[in-house]
Amino acid sequence: MLTNLKSKLPNTSASIFSVMSSLAAQHNAINLSQGFPDFPVDDDLLKLVSTYLKKGYNQYAPMPGVPALRQVLSDIIFKDNGFRYDPDTEITITHGATQAIATAISSTIREGDEVIIFTPAYDCYAPMVELNGGTPIFVQLEQPDYSINWETFKKQISHRTKMVVLNTPHNPSGKVLRKEDLEQLQELVQGSDILILADEVYEQIIFDGLTHHSVCRFSDLASRSFKIGSFGKTLHVTGWKLGYCAAPEILTNEFRKIHQYQVFSVNTPMQYAIADYLVDENNLKIAGAYQQRRDLFLEALSGSAFKPLSSQGTYFQLLNYSAISDKNEVDFAKELTIKQGVAAIPISVFYHIPQENQVLRFCFAKSEETLLKAAKLLQSL
Ligand SMILES: Cc1ncc(COP(=O)(O)O)c(C=O)c1O
Repeated sequence: MLTNLKSKLPNTSASIFSVMSSLAAQHNAINLSQGFPDFPVDDDLLKLVSTYLKKGYNQYAPMPGVPALRQVLSDIIFKDNGFRYDPDTEITITHGATQAIATAISSTIREGDEVIIFTPAYDCYAPMVELNGGTPIFVQLEQPDYSINWETFKKQISHRTKMVVLNTPHNPSGKVLRKEDLEQLQELVQGSDILILADEVYEQIIFDGLTHHSVCRFSDLASRSFKIGSFGKTLHVTGWKLGYCAAPEILTNEFRKIHQYQVFSVNTPMQYAIADYLVDENNLKIAGAYQQRRDLFLEALSGSAFKPLSSQGTYFQLLNYSAISDKNEVDFAKELTIKQGVAAIPISVFYHIPQENQVLRFCFAKSEETLLKAAKLLQSL
């Protein structure tokens, strides 16, 4: 019997994604809570995986990733952003973006370091900072449009600030940072040793003619950033858990020291398959289809009591329910799942100290049929 086991994350329990997904399953509700697609993966990609499996590409991949995949990724990032990462020394293939985030933080954050995180924030940043002895410093995004107030941010920079986590396009809000935002950040960190963890997993999912302003487009930011992406998000295969970290050699060296002991290397046949698949750049043109899904969902909701907020990227749509209920977000999300048969995620849980704005996040990476069914159920409120 263990009597003296002290949790390293005592305040952590099952994530809201697990809670809402299991509630959705229990009540047979349409699950628009967790961020994963429910439509089929491109058959060409599946065939490539099958080919590599059968050809015997089933042993350990090289520690930093299959060279062909690092090369094609370097080409894609260059084409999209005009910045070239060296595939040999600056790109590492990871077990999803989650591992890339964990490894980037483990390789740089020490006891006493402060890491600035904008809230609402994706849930894995702060626990990783804490596990490494760092202190998360939370800066709230402004209501109603989740923009960054750079004056507020500036006040939180101290001699202890080691890293800033930047997530664009942003989960949960769907906000896409503007060029001026990155310019502001660049100006504020210039001359310091502050690192940037740029979570860009939705880099290919940008709507309405907007541009994704990657950190690598800004030379000073590029020189201090871990740029993180996810093939799971880009290729609709979240269950494959494959992602990447692109960073200058000095950072990649430190990143790989930890990566090699945390995972050593990641899934071999899928890396080969993705490398081949991404040679055709049309396979990355996914934004249009997601925009159509967003528009279909919004059109089906028009006239309802839910008020949509702007979704500029990602596959999330925020809906304000203040015209329907006074309940807090967690209670309303549970009620919606149980009584109405639609599961969504309360935004309050993405804050360090829950904020109530009567807003829920709905994932529209779902089939047309699922979205129309969900919208019909929501219309009845
Ligand atoms: C903002 C953000 N970062 C990282 C991840 C994790 O990506 P992966 O599934 O590749 O680990 C997600 C997944 O939902 C996300 O939304």
